[in-house]
Parts: sequence; C-alpha cells; structure tokens
Amino acid sequence: MHQDLQDLQAQVKIRLEAAFRNYTTSQNIASSRLLSAVEYALFNGGKRMRPLLVAMVTDMLGGKQSDADAISLAVECIHAYSLVHDDLPAMDDDALRRGKPTCHIQFNEATAILAGDALQTLAFELLANIPLEGFANTKRLELIKELSKASGLQGMCQGQSLDLLATNQDIDITALNELHSLKTGALLAASVRMGAIISANTTVEDINNLTIFAKHIGLAFQIQDDILDVISDTQTLGKPQGSDQANNKNTFVSKLGLTGAKNELSVHHKEALQALSSLPYNTRDLRMFTDYMMTRTF
Ligand code: IPE
Ligand code: IPE
Ligand code: MG
Ligand code: MG
Ligand code: MG
Repeated sequence: MHQDLQDLQAQVKIRLEAAFRNYTTSQNIASSRLLSAVEYALFNGGKRMRPLLVAMVTDMLGGKQSDADAISLAVECIHAYSLVHDDLPAMDDDALRRGKPTCHIQFNEATAILAGDALQTLAFELLANIPLEGFANTKRLELIKELSKASGLQGMCQGQSLDLLATNQDIDITALNELHSLKTGALLAASVRMGAIISANTTVEDINNLTIFAKHIGLAFQIQDDILDVISDTQTLGKPQGSDQANNKNTFVSKLGLTGAKNELSVHHKEALQALSSLPYNTRDLRMFTDYMMTRTF
C-alpha cells in the first residue's frame, strides 16, 4: 500500500473509533455482553476500506471530515454486521476473522446474530441522530435512503442470498457479476456516493461518474478477495484460506481460473481509472485506492 494511503487509513481508523466512543458516551450506552460483541465485531481489526472511500471522496469534493466520520461509522457498522453474519454456521461457517475467532466463536451464535442486528440498527440510528454540519444536515434522508438500499433487498443482503443460492450450482459469469456487485459492490458504491452527497458542490454528472468508478472498484475488490482466498494463506488473510472451495462457492477463480480472474481484475482497475479521469477534481487519493485493489494482500 502506498505510504500516503497508509497514512490516510491510519487517520480514518482513529477517527472511526473516536466517533463510536463519542456516540456511546453521549447516549450513556451501558456496558453489556451485547455491546462487547458489537465492539468486538467493529474493532477487532479491519482495513476500513469503506470509511476510507467516504473520507477520500468528501475531501476531494470539499465536504467536511466531521460529517464524513459519522457516515463512515454508519457504513462500517453495516459492513461489520455483514461479516458477523457471513461467518455464521448457516452461511460460510468460518471460525477465523481478522486473525481472531469469529464473533460466534468468541461469544456464541445467538449473541453474534444479535450483535449483527444491533450493528445494523445502529447504522441508521447514527445517520438519524449524529450531528451533521450545514449542508449535510439537509441530506440526512438521502443518506438513509442510500445506505438502506445498499444494505438490503436491493444490495448486500440480496447479494448474500444469491451467493448462498449459487452454492453447489453452476451459474454463468453474468450472474456472478450481479452477485458480486450486490454482495460487495453495493456498500462500496454507497460509501462513494454518500461522500459525494454530503459535499455541497457535487453535480449529478460527478455522482454518475463516481458511481461508475465505484461499480468497478466493487467488482475489483471482490475479485481480489476471491483470488486471495486461493493464493494466500490463513495467517496473512486473517481468515481461513480456501473457504470458498471448501464451501463450493462460485467465484471468479472457480469460473475463470486464476489467470482469467486476474485479467478481469485488471479490466475493472482500468475502467475505474477511466471513470476517475472524467472528474474535474484532484483524484490522486482515489487513484491510489484503485491501484491498491490490484496489490492488496489481505
Ligand atoms: C471482506 O471485506 C468481505 C468482502 C466484502 C470481500 P474486507 O476485506 O473489507 O474486510 P475487512 O473489514 O478489511 O476485515
Ligand atoms: C462476503 O463475501 C461479502 C459480505 C457481504 C460479507 P465473502 O464470504 O467472500 O467474504 P469473506 O471472504 O468471508 O471475507
Ligand atoms: Mg460469504
Ligand atoms: Mg465469507
Ligand atoms: Mg471471500
């Protein structure tokens, strides 16, 4: 990862944790087993890719980072919940996440289900309540619409459902693209779009170009996830290598082979950069992020 991207990521990590602590303190949320499970799911590591996207787009378009922090936390809550549920025995049945026991192993299955539920509702509680400044405040409803759509029937949950339905089945590449776009792409796209929504000067054309960028980033991200599941090792990944094959999943590698998947990844990398080149802003950070899609190792 480029040093500048690493520095940005470190800042985002600190701000995300502070935003969470501020919120729980301001709401007097008392310690509980459920809160411990929620904190475990949120703060046991994680690359913070979605918050990084929110922060970078907001910065590029002249929005306020304090507003970006609130939104980043909401998106990361949805992401963390999606991982907790993804690891459950009824789904991928994985015991390791970010180098530690998965939430249902560390706590128990019922607590992990509830932690996921609580994280999901917390995301929208945050968007409804968290102070947003000036312009962004008038966009609260738009933000809620964006994140809810990307999370549910038309987004991540639908993608996860298609992923499960496709298990042990042979699906074609169009169906696989759709599945990946929903289960992983939707939340990444929402992160980009919400960063744009809170930034006053954004035009409809900018949002369209950023959405195209985000679609390619989303596919690139999941294709690399599929590739790493095959070529990496459990220690580096912090999650079980070979989980996809063990579960007989449809992935870009199972469909196209390693070389085919890598080629597909480069196509999306190129298309994402192309979409950025249509934007009349300084896209340096987003270009660094796009390159990282090809080079990330976990
Ligand atoms: C893993 O997401 C699941 C996918 C959507 C591919 P990340 O790779 O962003 O997971 P963390 O948050 O960094 O652990
Ligand atoms: C899951 O995809 C995407 C989510 C919505 C959580 P995977 O099942 O491939 O994610 P990992 O590999 O377990 O992180
Ligand atoms: Mg899965
Ligand atoms: Mg999984
Ligand atoms: Mg995976």
